Amino acid sequence: MENELQRLKKEAEEALHAISERAHLEEFRVKFLGRKGLFSRTMKQLGQVAKEERPRLGQLANAIKKEVDELFHEKKEVISTGSNTAAQDLDLSLPGRTLSCGKLHPITQVMEEICSVFEGMGFAVAEGPDVETDHYNFEALNIPKHHPARDMHDTFYVSESILLRTHTSPMQARIMEDKEPPLRYIAPGKVYRCDSDITHTPMFHQVEGFLVDRDVSFADLKGVLTSFTHRMFKKDLPLRFRPSFFPFTEPSAEVDIACVICGGSGCRVCKRTGWLEILGSGLIDPEVLKMVGYDPDEYSGFAFGLGVERIAMLKYGIDDIRLYYENDLRFLNQF
Ligand code: FA5
Repeated sequence: MENELQRLKKEAEEALHAISERAHLEEFRVKFLGRKGLFSRTMKQLGQVAKEERPRLGQLANAIKKEVDELFHEKKEVISTGSNTAAQDLDLSLPGRTLSCGKLHPITQVMEEICSVFEGMGFAVAEGPDVETDHYNFEALNIPKHHPARDMHDTFYVSESILLRTHTSPMQARIMEDKEPPLRYIAPGKVYRCDSDITHTPMFHQVEGFLVDRDVSFADLKGVLTSFTHRMFKKDLPLRFRPSFFPFTEPSAEVDIACVICGGSGCRVCKRTGWLEILGSGLIDPEVLKMVGYDPDEYSGFAFGLGVERIAMLKYGIDDIRLYYENDLRFLNQF
């Protein structure tokens, strides 16, 4: 029996040594030290030992069980305070992990740059709602119900009279209704259209700009937009004014800049034309001025709406607009 007790002690010590998790401590206690555990079972055999040997073996059995019990409690203490060997091996002199710092999204960066160029030209900044009424998005801009120009917008409707704004132009009507000329404003923000390909996304950003005063002409519009483009791209990038149509401007023009991706030779982004459209613009239609209570014989103005993602594509040479919204950090971290 003495041999059996020594073997049991060794087995218990090895088992305790291997334990590293609190959950296994209870299994150990039940197996070795519990009422029906291995030590209790071995001690029950004392009755079969010769009478004169019993006191000595009884004391030995109690001493070994007490020793294992103490080892068990020591281990329990070590695990619960976390001062196990892994923790003792901790090297506090190692450098810490560096925290990665978030950045502004490239579109936000470009948007801020666009705003700061216009602010430098004396434009004030105003913001308006993404969820807009049919009145401000269309009616106040000379686009009545059933006007074919509504088809160009691929609108997301919330209800018959509420929608996600399809452009930032409603801000022209909102501001003009509220203020008297002279006015010089930009209105940056998100806009929504049911549209998606390499140069279109369903949510994108525009910066609306407009100026109303006496004797404003198309030459003023050309001057402001040419100066903006040159400041934004920091070089004399070719740009062209292409005749176009918007119900709220007359005459109207779209502005294209030479495709920086192919250098004007033609690629899939510029649809092989060598030019990429970045904005719509024109002189504010007298009907729109009348609707906000201005006298078109006294005041005139120009307006434009820039596509921020398009400008960001050209600025950074990105050939698919959708990359901006795929949340791939390998792409976003480059800006
Ligand atoms: C308009 O939205 C007019 N409100 C612009 C305007 C304002 C004209 C003031 C006259 C006076 P357009 O639909 O062309 O126009 O859009 C303007 C610019 O937004 C485009 O030149 C293009 O750069 C960008 N754009 C249009 N649709 C998308 C789209 N789905 N994804 C990304 N950019 C787009």
